[in-house]
Amino acid sequence: MKVVFVCLGNICRSPSAEAVFRDMAPEVETDSAGTAGWHVGKPPYGPTQDAAHARGYDLSNLRARQFTARDFERFDLIIGMDADNIADIEQLRPSGNQTEVRLFTEYASGSGMREVPDPYYTRDFDGALDLIEGCARGLKVALTEA
Ligand code: 4NP
Repeated sequence: MKVVFVCLGNICRSPSAEAVFRDMAPEVETDSAGTAGWHVGKPPYGPTQDAAHARGYDLSNLRARQFTARDFERFDLIIGMDADNIADIEQLRPSGNQTEVRLFTEYASGSGMREVPDPYYTRDFDGALDLIEGCARGLKVALTEA
């Protein structure tokens, strides 16, 4: 099983999701990417790294990359953090490709959240991690039952 988490910059939400889910489900091959290329090659945003580190997640070795059409062939499941991510991902879907694309919050229906708010703008890094951890737990259950 190969899963890629996708957000806008690949420096806050998706690298956090990657680290959290890798910790929870080491048997799953896990990656992350951004729909925008602004931060390619850079490590996750400092305050995101700090909030994650306080919970025991090390994001320091991750480097941003841009999501590409090839990711539809490389992964079994593509998970976006918000509706814009999903729309940008779908723009790149190769014709005939059937790879599953989902919103991360679908796996934490009890949260009442439809999207993972971007802490780069909200500055609520702990709130984002709370939601990401809940979604990751739900994803693990969903993959175990599949
Ligand atoms: P992310 O957050 O999509 O969760 O990585 C962002 C980080 C940086 C920017 C936008 C979103 N930015 O505009 O630079």
